[in-house]
Amino acid sequence: MSDSPRVLILGATGQLGMELQRIFAGTNPLVALGRDGLDLGVPAQIREVLERVRPDVILNAAAYTAVDRAESERELAFAINGRAPRLLAEEAARTNALLVHYSTDYVFSNRKVEPWTEEDATGPLNVYGASKLAGEEAIREVGGRYVIFRTSWVYGPQGKNFLFTMLRLARERHELSIVNDQVGAPTTSIELARATRSIVDGLLAGTYGEASQWAGLYHMTCAGFTTWCGFAQAIFQKAGALLEGHKPRVVPIPSRDYPTPARRPHNSVLSNARLKERFGVELASWEAALDEVVAAIERKRLATRRD
Ligand SMILES: NC(=O)c1ccc[n+]([C@@H]2O[C@H](COP(=O)([O-])OP(=O)(O)OC[C@H]3O[C@@H](n4cnc5c(N)ncnc54)[C@H](OP(=O)(O)O)[C@@H]3O)[C@@H](O)[C@H]2O)c1
Repeated sequence: MSDSPRVLILGATGQLGMELQRIFAGTNPLVALGRDGLDLGVPAQIREVLERVRPDVILNAAAYTAVDRAESERELAFAINGRAPRLLAEEAARTNALLVHYSTDYVFSNRKVEPWTEEDATGPLNVYGASKLAGEEAIREVGGRYVIFRTSWVYGPQGKNFLFTMLRLARERHELSIVNDQVGAPTTSIELARATRSIVDGLLAGTYGEASQWAGLYHMTCAGFTTWCGFAQAIFQKAGALLEGHKPRVVPIPSRDYPTPARRPHNSVLSNARLKERFGVELASWEAALDEVVAAIERKRLATRRD
């Protein structure tokens, strides 16, 4: 492997894709493609782009992420989240490239109250979760030099997410009813990108040994956990400067009072023990990570006002 690996980022317009571009910015050549550069729904494009770019590292942050819409777009969700990762893995295995792929807590069911480990049986409650599980299984079947990071409740300073929805709703309403019986770890795109960079650097440097010693599935979330309601309350507490005087009352409600097309697990908490044990990597607490994202948004808004 040369000193300067060729890095390809897919999903460049997404939350994680944008942070990966920032954190891998020093690597050269770095190719970052959105859907207009590579549509994962078109298999021929996948082969053509990989032949052209010849990456040493593929960071696949692209996915069909519309959890509720997936219930009525099953075929599309499986094409992007299930079949495209298989093709990426096949091309990566053929060229000995490293494939980094991301998956979700929604591969799990409602059968457990303790944090889920990588050994736990899956049982997706919704189409999105089933399609992401199909992608995981395809990559594992193909094998090669790959890591799959399962994460949860992703948000960050850019993109569409729960934090920005809360900031918008705070201006529009005096009272917000938020689900308080789903528990998980809000995880920032910044922390995910940081941990990914550290692990990829180690893998390329040979720090973790041969692929047989590290290839596989790892849970990767911020530390700690809360409910969506707790997350909303923390946002309103920490993001004072972004709320411009608005601070709605938060009313906890059960999931049954907020029906959605897709069912979601009550327990989305993932154990990160394997990540720490294998790579020595731990993500920040979800509260500290939220502080960092709020500060980043505040800086960006100040800069925009100054311009
Ligand atoms: N968001 C979460 O809460 C969450 C939770 C657990 C796991 N994850 C996983 O974490 C990873 C990153 O998620 P994220 O939140 O960063 O997602 P995101 O913000 O929704 O971004 C998804 C990216 O995938 C791209 N994409 C969608 N369809 C595509 C297609 N047909 N061809 C090529 N690109 C396509 C999107 O492009 P456009 O901009 O053109 O749509 C976008 O760049 C994904 O694997 C996701 O499943 C996310």
